[in-house]
Amino acid sequence: MNALIDPFGRRIEYVRLSVTDRCDLRCDYCMPKGFRDFQEPDDWLRFDEIERVIGAFARLGVSRVRLTGGEPLVRRDLPELAARLARLPGIDDLSLSTNATRLDKHAHVLREAGVSRLNVSLDTLRAERFKQITGGKLDKVLAGLMAAKAAGFAPVKINMVVMRDVNDDEVEDMVEFCLEHDFTLRFIETMPMGETGRSASSRYLDLQTVRTRLAERYELLPGVMPGGGPARYVQVAGTRLRIGFITPISQHFCETCNRVRLSVDGTLYMCLGQEERFELRPLLRDGASDAELEAAVREAIALKPERHEFREEPDKIVRFMSMTGG
Ligand SMILES: C[S@@+](CC[C@H](N)C(=O)[O-])C[C@H]1O[C@@H](n2cnc3c(N)ncnc32)[C@H](O)[C@@H]1O
Ligand code: SF4
Repeated sequence: MNALIDPFGRRIEYVRLSVTDRCDLRCDYCMPKGFRDFQEPDDWLRFDEIERVIGAFARLGVSRVRLTGGEPLVRRDLPELAARLARLPGIDDLSLSTNATRLDKHAHVLREAGVSRLNVSLDTLRAERFKQITGGKLDKVLAGLMAAKAAGFAPVKINMVVMRDVNDDEVEDMVEFCLEHDFTLRFIETMPMGETGRSASSRYLDLQTVRTRLAERYELLPGVMPGGGPARYVQVAGTRLRIGFITPISQHFCETCNRVRLSVDGTLYMCLGQEERFELRPLLRDGASDAELEAAVREAIALKPERHEFREEPDKIVRFMSMTGG
């Protein structure tokens, strides 16, 4: 097979696909309140265009795709897109990152469409605080989570961005919540993406302190679930609960990076924390053949930088996380 190998010898086998840059929430570390500068719908890749690009990646050895955004469930007919991607030869893992506000309606149909794994963002279990951080309603998210459980997604992973003096007093509550519902829990460090991410970085918390604190209350067994992903996991002894720590700042994991990101307008971003990119939309709309598309993907992968520089150059990335989907 023609595997995609980047200049640093890393095999690219995972695409994160942003299906919209819009969102029904405004998490304060992600998207500014009142933000309106979205991509024009004419510039969004259509489903057949997305299918072609992911098909090209699949022929080049990519087997995993994650639907993200913005909030993917605000893109109309998302389950139809999911079904089309799940059917592509070579794609054997289709997952979704969501804020879960619309999941109560969609969980079942997404599962039927072939989405096998779900990550849900949830930073707090307190309704007032949820409103403050996201501008939205917690009860919709909790309903969405229960619908996901009922639809048979297992494990559902909860992603909690931990911020000093915002929600760091809730890490134990979140552990108990995930124990109760059999969810996997992942803590994430804030990243300086766009002005929102940069201002959130003033509330940055090194997750090592969270781990040390949890270890006082729970017995944490290290080294479970090694895999291609960025999380380092521990298991809470005597339970099924796995807790992951995603530490792009305190301990980056770029040497094992296996992914690229496709934004809704067809721009391929080589790294979350760098500017290297490649525009695929012009090729798609100018009638490029499959072979030309594959050659363009290879050309793009040759641009992949070695690592992000969130620490060294925190002001570098002006785009918000919602453009590339985290
Ligand atoms: C951009 S969202 C897109 C998918 C979906 N709307 C959601 O919230 O899960 C993907 C992930 O990025 C995280 N995120 C957004 N901005 C961030 C930042 N500045 N630092 C760290 N994580 C961030 C969110 O918490 C979420 O887990
Ligand atoms: S983190 Fe997700 S839910 Fe929150 S504003 Fe960004 S895209 Fe929307």
